[in-house]
Amino acid sequence: MIELIIKKRNGIELTKEEITSIIDGFTSESIPDYQISAFLMAVYFKGMTRAETANLTDIMMRSGELIDLSEIKGIKLDKHSTGGVGDKTTLILAPLVAAAGVPVAKMSGRGLGHTGGTLDKMEAIKGLSIDLSREEFIAQIKKTNIAVCGQNANLVPADKKLYALRDVTGTVDHISLISSSIMSKKLACGADAIVIDIKVGHGAFMKTIENAEKLAATMIGIGEKMNRKVTAVITSMNEPLGCTIGNALEIKEVIETLKGNGPEDLTKLCLELGSHMLVLGEVSENLIQARKTLNNLIDSGAAYKKFEELISAQGGDLNVIKQPELLPSTQFLETYKSTNEGFISELNALDIGLASVKLGAGRETKESVIDHGAGILLKKKIGDYVKKGEALAILYSNNPASFTKAAELMELAYTFSQEKPLEKPLILKTVH
Ligand code: URA
Repeated sequence: MIELIIKKRNGIELTKEEITSIIDGFTSESIPDYQISAFLMAVYFKGMTRAETANLTDIMMRSGELIDLSEIKGIKLDKHSTGGVGDKTTLILAPLVAAAGVPVAKMSGRGLGHTGGTLDKMEAIKGLSIDLSREEFIAQIKKTNIAVCGQNANLVPADKKLYALRDVTGTVDHISLISSSIMSKKLACGADAIVIDIKVGHGAFMKTIENAEKLAATMIGIGEKMNRKVTAVITSMNEPLGCTIGNALEIKEVIETLKGNGPEDLTKLCLELGSHMLVLGEVSENLIQARKTLNNLIDSGAAYKKFEELISAQGGDLNVIKQPELLPSTQFLETYKSTNEGFISELNALDIGLASVKLGAGRETKESVIDHGAGILLKKKIGDYVKKGEALAILYSNNPASFTKAAELMELAYTFSQEKPLEKPLILKTVH
């Protein structure tokens, strides 16, 4: 291991066998954490070649169970977002795309820190189970064309261990390490094609478009090596997506969006990502045709029906979907009012995400318990004009003491200007 650390430290490319011995030694605990930490730091500074990154991904992918979806007919699609605030696209996209005839095999994660997670949002629906066995997952996709569940413990165990070590050694934000971590999990889940939404901005992991582009190119390169089609769409996460942040609130917005009454930005993003999924899934010839199909599925009610099918297949209470006022709510709410007059020129997604965590909507640690009713309903977004004392947002919490802390964070999120700010694009770039 010492030789391999020195080799990487000197910027020399490692062979597949050498990377295998490092990852195997780490997972079997024959190589201590301190040597892996040194190795990670060497990677951080010297980087990895395309071949090394692809090999690392392949080795990590094979460290646990591989899901074989070959018995499901058609091109199976997966979608991944690098994480954001108010990002409920999976729960809109999955039924929308499945309704178009593309099988959607989606394994999702939980929220941590200021970002939300699909599984937490789903658990706001009474009775719904996110724990599907491999057999149940496959059977449900065969029957309904759609399943959204949690990742089981055997999926890419090497990444779980490596990510935990990266987290405490300052080696998370490295393109090769992020790409191999995400792609090993996506590939192990068995989909044939993947659309990746790479968020960039205040509320995202990637802060600059240049880094987002590098991440996109690396993930696409890995996909090519592994014979999977990958499309990456780089999108802005400077303000929260849609108007809700918090689990039950976001489910309400999902329902509205599937019925065609969603906020403009969220609808636009879903149509964009969904169109790429239909093209990759070979049910549409081009993006224009795909968009038409998706709009028709929303207008006809078929997309919403597919959502109901998903919820009921996984044991969720359909009454809660038909009457969203039955979703969890909170005992207390507070209107957050503007102390300024003018146009909102910035609405920092990171601060809003942190405020929602304070209200109980997210986790500060892995052990925190989520309050599914808690969160924020934004009444105004970037470009809106507000008067002093006008409502900017409604805060929901079961802990009234949390309102003050959340309001302090909200205060940081808003910047006002006297001129209407120029509209910034939501969809920045597509990379194939
Ligand atoms: N998400 C992951 O799964 N891995 C990373 O390294 C970063 C984000």
